[in-house]
Amino acid sequence: MIETRNLTKRYGTLTALDGLTLDIGPGQVFGFIGPNGAGKSTTMKILACLMRADAGSASVCGLDVSRHGDDIRRVIGYMPDFLGVYDDLTVDEYLQFFASAFAIPRAKRRSVVDQVLQLTDLTEKRHALVDSLSRGMQQRLGVARVLIHDPKVLLLDEPASGLDPRARIEMRELLLELGRMGKVLMVSSHILSELAEMCTSIGIIERGKLLYAGTIEDAYQRTKALAGGGESIKVLLEEGSAPPELLIPAISRHSLVTNASAEGPLALTIRTTGHPGHNDLIRTLIDAGARINSFQPMEIKLEDAFLRLTTGALQ
Ligand SMILES: Nc1ncnc2c1ncn2[C@@H]1O[C@H](COP(=O)(O)OP(=O)(O)OP(=O)(O)O)[C@@H](O)[C@H]1O
Ligand SMILES: [Mg+2]
Repeated sequence: MIETRNLTKRYGTLTALDGLTLDIGPGQVFGFIGPNGAGKSTTMKILACLMRADAGSASVCGLDVSRHGDDIRRVIGYMPDFLGVYDDLTVDEYLQFFASAFAIPRAKRRSVVDQVLQLTDLTEKRHALVDSLSRGMQQRLGVARVLIHDPKVLLLDEPASGLDPRARIEMRELLLELGRMGKVLMVSSHILSELAEMCTSIGIIERGKLLYAGTIEDAYQRTKALAGGGESIKVLLEEGSAPPELLIPAISRHSLVTNASAEGPLALTIRTTGHPGHNDLIRTLIDAGARINSFQPMEIKLEDAFLRLTTGALQ
């Protein structure tokens, strides 16, 4: 549904996209992740036919962006990273305006606008001024706007940025619903966890290059492999236990422990390479005087995975 091949874009001497190759198939919710300045917005603008690439090719629904701009605009909904300012327009007027811009027949506009208001949970706000909406509502209005002409493919540039946790959950629910409706979504973010629970796949971009494309699960596995298959274990101690300072030298003698550090007077973190037996580690701690409250191997955090992936270590 979305395909780029060696897409390259320069702004003066700066290479914003450096041979980007991407494939997003039907039914995918694709998280496009990268730090500030990575080239996410540039890619989406090229796909939305708002900007031309210097080299390489891109197509949406099989239509080439350099030749079929008008046809592509009909099948995509592009939400830019900034909504713009609309003085004195109500939510309803704003959507009616876009309905007419998309040449929805006058008789149908009311029902189309009502549908997108309902889908984005903005029906109650229809008479509010756009500028008076909270950031979360404005972002949902941005999504409502790109749904007006019922596009197959949605390009959403940072729909969850600047949202508080609740608004982010609402946005996630909305995007999940759009995925269930069969739309193909390309959603950008510089925060992996913002997208983690709703994407079927992710692509990580940095300095205009794709560092990784695949499932989040696979990203985890690769990250674990990079970490040498090690673990990070959090140990909480009970009152009366030997303190971390005494336990650390003992546990550090274990051949698979690479690092141990205190996390306050009653906690320590143990990092390992490979998988030492947990009973073995617990026995070592107890022998050194530990009274253990809990012993918890931790999941590798997505953020850590992301940092590792974006150091280019996978290339
Ligand atoms: N119109 C422009 N003129 C000159 N340089 C630009 C222009 N637009 C983007 N750039 C540069 O191109 C690079 C990629 O920018 P882009 O906006 O695509 O990144 P991004 O991944 O969307 O970043 P962000 O997370 O900050 O939105 C950056 O270095 C940026 O400064
Ligand atoms: Mg951007």
